[in-house]
Amino acid sequence: MSLEKADFHLPLSIFKEHINVNDPSLADKYVQRNKDMEAKYNRDAVKNRIKLYRDKSLWEGAPLEFAISDWQPDKRKDVEQAKSLGNKAVLLARQMINKPFNVLMTGDAGVGKTSLAMMMAGILQKHDKTVMFVSANELRDLSTDQYDYPELKLKLKDRLNFINDADVLILDDLGAEAGNFENGNRISPSFQRLIYSIARSRFEGTREDQKRALKEGRKLPHPVRSTIVTTNNVQDELDAIYGSRTISRLITLKPEHRLAFNNMEDMRQQSNI
Ligand SMILES: Nc1ncnc2c1ncn2[C@@H]1O[C@H](COP(=O)(O)OP(=O)(O)OP(=O)(O)O)[C@@H](O)[C@H]1O
Ligand SMILES: [Mg+2]
Repeated sequence: MSLEKADFHLPLSIFKEHINVNDPSLADKYVQRNKDMEAKYNRDAVKNRIKLYRDKSLWEGAPLEFAISDWQPDKRKDVEQAKSLGNKAVLLARQMINKPFNVLMTGDAGVGKTSLAMMMAGILQKHDKTVMFVSANELRDLSTDQYDYPELKLKLKDRLNFINDADVLILDDLGAEAGNFENGNRISPSFQRLIYSIARSRFEGTREDQKRALKEGRKLPHPVRSTIVTTNNVQDELDAIYGSRTISRLITLKPEHRLAFNNMEDMRQQSNI
């Protein structure tokens, strides 16, 4: 086909904008347009990264979401405690935007720990933080099943990169995977080692973090990245399950970073929520 006869489809949009080549501000407009496009590209890249960590999360069932407005203190028996837990979670999420630290949420089943952890996740994601949700049960299953299914070995390896690297990790229901504590610890040494390696890299940084900090001559903060742990177990039980070297890196002792859902009733038993 000759060039003259070729069927050119020029995008119509190029004709829409009348460009005055004598406009003295044309160069500035051009620079501004490029800046706007670059800003949009960067914004999209951040949003995609946040979505990626969410997609890579290890949920027990369907992915969870919990908005600030979903927390209804008035539906709880102890309204004041519910209000103060909700407010504290919002405050901690806002502080976490600027500085990494660990948070512990303790209490019995159904009191709202996972809900408030997810509420914090929503606030952090709105401020461009990547959040990885990991159900301890799901991680234990993946770790156990990887020996029978080679594809799960790859999946675990892939997820561990995200677990170590996320700005915020929610480690949900830590200790539940050990079963009824009175009947003995059902955690395998290899899973204990896995949790230790996660605790270490979140607290002390990944090898890349350490190399970079050394090169730049700066000290890493501890923890390097934030971890929010929810659990039904008390500290001594977690120490017995995972060992104090792991727990001291994951569980904060600072009262201002601990949310104790004491005496809160199990909301799964309520019909009005
Ligand atoms: N104040 C509240 N307002 C609205 N919903 C609530 C409130 N407290 C709890 N719920 C609801 O109660 C249910 C149980 O809460 P959640 O799963 O957060 O509990 P949990 O403490 O994580 O329990 P578990 O230890 O069993 O994991 C959820 O459906 C949650 O949305
Ligand atoms: Mg929970």
